[in-house]
Amino acid sequence: MNRGIYQVDSKIIRPATKALRGEIVIPGDKSVSHRAVMFSALGTTPVHITNFLPSADCLSTVGVMRALGAKVDILGDTELVVQGNGLHGLQEPETVLDAGNSGTTLRLMMGMLAPQRFMSVFTGDSSLHKRPMGRVINPLRKMGANIFARGENTKLPIAIIPPKEPLQGFTYDMPVASAQVKSAVLLAGLFARGNTTVVEPYPSRNHTELMLEAFGVNLEYDGNSITVEPPETMTAPEELVVPGDISSAAFWMVAASIIPGSELLLKNVGVNDTRTGIIDVMKAMGADVAMLNKRKSGGEPVADIRVRHARLHGTSFGADIIPRLVDEIPVIAVAAMFAEGDTIITGAGELRVKETDRLEAICAQFGKLGGVIDGQEDGLVIHGGSVPVNGECFSHDDHRMAMSLAIAGMAGAGVTIVNPDCIAISYPGFYDELDNLLNK
Ligand code: S3P
Repeated sequence: MNRGIYQVDSKIIRPATKALRGEIVIPGDKSVSHRAVMFSALGTTPVHITNFLPSADCLSTVGVMRALGAKVDILGDTELVVQGNGLHGLQEPETVLDAGNSGTTLRLMMGMLAPQRFMSVFTGDSSLHKRPMGRVINPLRKMGANIFARGENTKLPIAIIPPKEPLQGFTYDMPVASAQVKSAVLLAGLFARGNTTVVEPYPSRNHTELMLEAFGVNLEYDGNSITVEPPETMTAPEELVVPGDISSAAFWMVAASIIPGSELLLKNVGVNDTRTGIIDVMKAMGADVAMLNKRKSGGEPVADIRVRHARLHGTSFGADIIPRLVDEIPVIAVAAMFAEGDTIITGAGELRVKETDRLEAICAQFGKLGGVIDGQEDGLVIHGGSVPVNGECFSHDDHRMAMSLAIAGMAGAGVTIVNPDCIAISYPGFYDELDNLLNK
């Protein structure tokens, strides 16, 4: 991410001197916030979005949708009204679209823009320029899209030229389980001739499917395959309520589990099955985690999560569960460092192409805090029971690395995080919440 003049060079996190106690209201889900703004731009009536996550990534989506002609009124920090111009009402942007650090903005919007009758060009920050985009470009090209990109059509910058013919629906057998790729193909399918089917190797987060249905789009499911039928129009709901982000709650789940005497109530957390892998793994490690007051909010299941300190032990997990916890592996690695015995993670090669190579970053940085971790090609072996030491660690400009390092330092012997401000990508209030907990 770009580091402006107001960003600090480092942040010191001191070890917790007492148990963590109290309630934390978890901010809105990043994935759902993106989709709420994007899909509302395809309706014709205003959509009131509440509990929106005002993070740098989601604001990249707001910028892109405005550039495409959607009206976005910011009513408050977490409250927006988005007014679209209809399914076929996106307008040619006057300049280059900037996705910032956000893979979700770029990949989903490539799917939405590939079928349009106007040209669009994407850029992003230095991290996004390194990430693989062929995984979206290839299936879209098979549908007839005209997309050109650096590095033999694999990397930013990307130019999307209007296709000669409308895109053609097809069946895409996805080589990797990725909600972003799945969503891009389904979104292109909204504008295609005929139905479009995606087949996933393992189920990934289904927020696109749930929200498209809330906009009246007909989807059909058969095992791991999802088919979209191109709609005539999109019928926008009046309200979209974004659930709290379980990927943000995960940091507190791990912190309360490993800091003796702690008990936290994490309020209003989205507990969609496609996202709760972290709870399954924490429970397998012996964590005391309970979902209370389970309810539905804005079409998504929501609960309050109570976490109490417990003695954790190592566990093993692999490819089948990875999509359900793909963003939580850095913080699971922290839990594993403080657990007894080894934790073995396999089938996690996707972590190498996130905001940074997270497998490499985990080994390099957690090692400085006393962690004993063996990096594998597609996973990690974390030897638990390490003796925490204080260290200076680099965030790799990756929000989830920075927050995981903060939890490791807080539960251990403290940490100085270099380039700490990247947390604003997904959880701008994270350090304030951490300070509140430590000073309570
Ligand atoms: C996301 C999907 C996941 C996840 C990312 C958000 C989404 O990426 O890592 O933070 O909103 O669809 P992949 O689809 O690349 O696994």
